[in-house]
Amino acid sequence: MSNLNILEFPDPRLTTVASDVEIFDEALKKLVQDMIETMYSARGIGLAATQVNVHKRLLVLDVSEKQDQPRVYINPQILSSEGEQDHEEGCLSVPGIYASVNRAETITLRAQDSDGNTFEEQAEGLHAVCIQHEMDHLIGRLFVDYLSPLKRNMVRKKLEKQRKVAAKEAEEHLVI
Ligand code: NI
Repeated sequence: MSNLNILEFPDPRLTTVASDVEIFDEALKKLVQDMIETMYSARGIGLAATQVNVHKRLLVLDVSEKQDQPRVYINPQILSSEGEQDHEEGCLSVPGIYASVNRAETITLRAQDSDGNTFEEQAEGLHAVCIQHEMDHLIGRLFVDYLSPLKRNMVRKKLEKQRKVAAKEAEEHLVI
């Protein structure tokens, strides 16, 4: 397994709309494993293929307390949704930024596993938030897109500043 590079806002590749997965082969299984490993090592609870510059409808998540129950959703589709919830969200592609987003409380979805088998399930609470957040990535949408343009611009500036500080620190130190 290996760690994949995660794209960061405002990288335009994050706005790409993913296409369906049609071939369920060993390469797909390897990608799924790499995405799970990348998610864990980045300390995230979800990761969409878009974030690792693979524009296929595929996401992984783990909302379990011990982070030992990885789940895979390929070609996910929301069949129905109910209720509302506001949850503070963050994103591996928008590091250090958190904002409350309004989403459905319960969703019923259909997806495929890495062998191509179709399954349906109901998700609620954080699990439902995570699926909706990751599915947004697959249509090129980030949680900061729900913020006002003014706030989104503030996020952009904050990230630019963080990157400059990090680049300066890297210049001044020997990183081995
Ligand atoms: Ni995200």
